[in-house]
Amino acid sequence: MRANRGWWDRNADEYQTEHGTFLGDDRFVWGPEGLDEVEAELLGPAEELKGKTVLEIGAGAAQCARWLAGQGARPVALDLSHRQLQHALRIGGDFPLVCADAGALPFADGSFDLACSAYGALPFVAEPVRVLKEVRRVLRPGGRFVFSVTHPIRWAFPDEPGPEGLTVAASYFDRTPYVEQDEDGRAVYVEHHRTVGDRVRDVVAGGFRLVDLVEPEWPAWNTQEWGGWSPLRGNLIPGTAVFVCERD
Ligand SMILES: C[S@@+](CC[C@H](N)C(=O)[O-])C[C@H]1O[C@@H](n2cnc3c(N)ncnc32)[C@H](O)[C@@H]1O
Repeated sequence: MRANRGWWDRNADEYQTEHGTFLGDDRFVWGPEGLDEVEAELLGPAEELKGKTVLEIGAGAAQCARWLAGQGARPVALDLSHRQLQHALRIGGDFPLVCADAGALPFADGSFDLACSAYGALPFVAEPVRVLKEVRRVLRPGGRFVFSVTHPIRWAFPDEPGPEGLTVAASYFDRTPYVEQDEDGRAVYVEHHRTVGDRVRDVVAGGFRLVDLVEPEWPAWNTQEWGGWSPLRGNLIPGTAVFVCERD
């Protein structure tokens, strides 16, 4: 968590400069493919969002929460990184911003109707079940949690948008985390790999029922590269997995 917070605090400005236009200030985009909640309706029909309390986890600059507020929902945007939330403040919005860890949510049981996370927290935590259990705790019975993560198959390929990113270079089954270190050997960035099966088991262990697993296809209109995500690779293998879960 320490490495994670530090990395996002140091890199939030660059992230928002690089991706802010694609994300839009008040759009709800699930990942680099550009799947938009307007079309996907993974949280349910937009007209049913009005009045719903929604927790956005790993919100960054809270673009998704801002879209939810525009639908009449009552979002709370939570992120571990203070600097990311400063970007949320800069863009503005009439909803609470909370700086906290997804593994220890500062809310009472049953506070929310829905929860969502677009690439927030779950790719970066060593104990995803702890996060899922926390989200379950703060949701009301029947509440939905929809989260997107890097598609597990991408772990096997180099993080390159060009042809060099199309050849398997690592074992899909190797769960060793990806770690970047500083000159003193301290971890400064950590990303954790889970296979598809691991993610399904995590969802169930967290007390959820898996309703759908969406693998957005790369649309023809999207010519943008985002790290290793690109039109070239996106046309061949999935880059994002969106888990649609309901609290038992
Ligand atoms: C890839 S960004 C996604 C941000 C935003 N959802 C978006 O689509 O632009 C990941 C975000 O997750 C946040 N994050 C990472 N670990 C977290 C944790 N344990 N608890 C809460 N937020 C976390 C980071 O600070 C960062 O803002």
